[in-house]
Amino acid sequence: MRVIFVVPESSAYIKAGGLGDVAHSLAKAIKSLGHSVTVIMPRYKNIKADLKPSFTHALPFDNSINFSVFEAKKDDINYFFVSCQDFFERDHIYASPKGPYPDNALRFGLFSLISLEIMKKLSLECDIFHIHDWPTALVPLYRDLYYPEFSHVASVLTIHNAMHQGIFEAEYLPRLHIPWDLFRPFGGVEFYGKINFLKAGITFCEVLTTVSPSYAREISNYANGLEGLIREKKYFFGILNGIDTDIWNPESDRMIVANYSIKNFQRGKTKNKQHLKEIFGLKTPIQKPLIGMVSRLTSQKGLDMVEKILDEAIQEGFDFIFLGSGEEFYQEMLMGFLKSYPESVRARIEYNEELAHKIYAGSDIFLMPSIFEPCGISQMIAMRYGTVPVVSRVGGLLDTVIDYISSPEEGTGFSFDVKNRDSFMMALLRARVFYDMECCRFSKDWQEIVKRCMKRDFSWQKSAQEYERIYSIAMTLRKYGSWS
Ligand code: GLC
Repeated sequence: MRVIFVVPESSAYIKAGGLGDVAHSLAKAIKSLGHSVTVIMPRYKNIKADLKPSFTHALPFDNSINFSVFEAKKDDINYFFVSCQDFFERDHIYASPKGPYPDNALRFGLFSLISLEIMKKLSLECDIFHIHDWPTALVPLYRDLYYPEFSHVASVLTIHNAMHQGIFEAEYLPRLHIPWDLFRPFGGVEFYGKINFLKAGITFCEVLTTVSPSYAREISNYANGLEGLIREKKYFFGILNGIDTDIWNPESDRMIVANYSIKNFQRGKTKNKQHLKEIFGLKTPIQKPLIGMVSRLTSQKGLDMVEKILDEAIQEGFDFIFLGSGEEFYQEMLMGFLKSYPESVRARIEYNEELAHKIYAGSDIFLMPSIFEPCGISQMIAMRYGTVPVVSRVGGLLDTVIDYISSPEEGTGFSFDVKNRDSFMMALLRARVFYDMECCRFSKDWQEIVKRCMKRDFSWQKSAQEYERIYSIAMTLRKYGSWS
């Protein structure tokens, strides 16, 4: 099959969050199954890689929009980048710390249109458009409106986060080249008097997917107003994300001070913990349980919950290291934690890949108190590094972390009821009971949990095969209008 990913980000070049990781690692996994994969994404100011200029063009619908296309090849995947002075020469991808860029409708809507234009110009052969979240959700609509040459191409839309839908004022319609007759609630783009990109994507794609089975169930019940449409979608699947096990491998990771495997993790993790504490200037004794959190700083990630337990957790003997960037409100909250607990808390407000690796390797516990979590990637990485996750029971966290208390025979972490402060604190205290470290050796129980975590298989293999099956379903649907 020939698959084209149209994505707003890919960690092969730049990323803001998990979507970027998936765009990169899933593309690699699909490629390794023998399919051809091409990725089209914007060229943001902060992409520093060497890219080859390809051609310059104006949008046929509006020749005030000029764009240039650049090319690159990575992991045997062809990348095309859309460079557009007015849209992508900015410091961030979607939003500054003050909030989303006000012209996101045009930035991403027209990027989706331009992607089709590039395919046409380069006569790219293709069977599947795999599009991701609201920024590229208009691709199937534009296909149907303006690109009869791609009428055979089936589209698969993956929802990574149903909270962000790309809702904009109706006045954008003409500049997006969407006819007013599509401004209707059924079979159109209208949503409570505005345009909703995700809604358009769900309506016009052949197959809808999301990134874990539990999140698929959750958004069929509630998806900020789109749950009805999602429930009606006949072909809707929840497929768990994987992680890139080449990049995330404690045995070969060059960003950590000591490599380790399941055979020698006690020594390996202790060395990494020592190093991590040194870097962050955390002077507390090595045996104190260290909690790490690497996260985008948004309300989804549950920092409000951390605020509620922090004082008690510190009294119970935990240390904390936070790393992340995002909304100003949460950046300030982290700085506040640092100020209030200078002995036990460290925080860095930045996106830093290397520090993230060190935190995954050097922490004892990894925290994800998310309010909702479509899949979550960090908990899987943490487990691969033998760092025991403490997570809220939602979405992909529910599907990947087995609670040790309810399943002592196979538990890999500790989970708690979402948005429940006491349940959260209880999960930490439970972890505390089993965690013990003396002379660089963990207690028997903790060793067992760590080993189970490290044994879990979070590679893409199985999920990529599921996507392969879904691509076939989508192609059949496109061709025959039905699958069975
Ligand atoms: C989004 C979701 C996260 C998911 C990621 C990749 O960032 O919030 O849960 O893991 O997309 O699908």
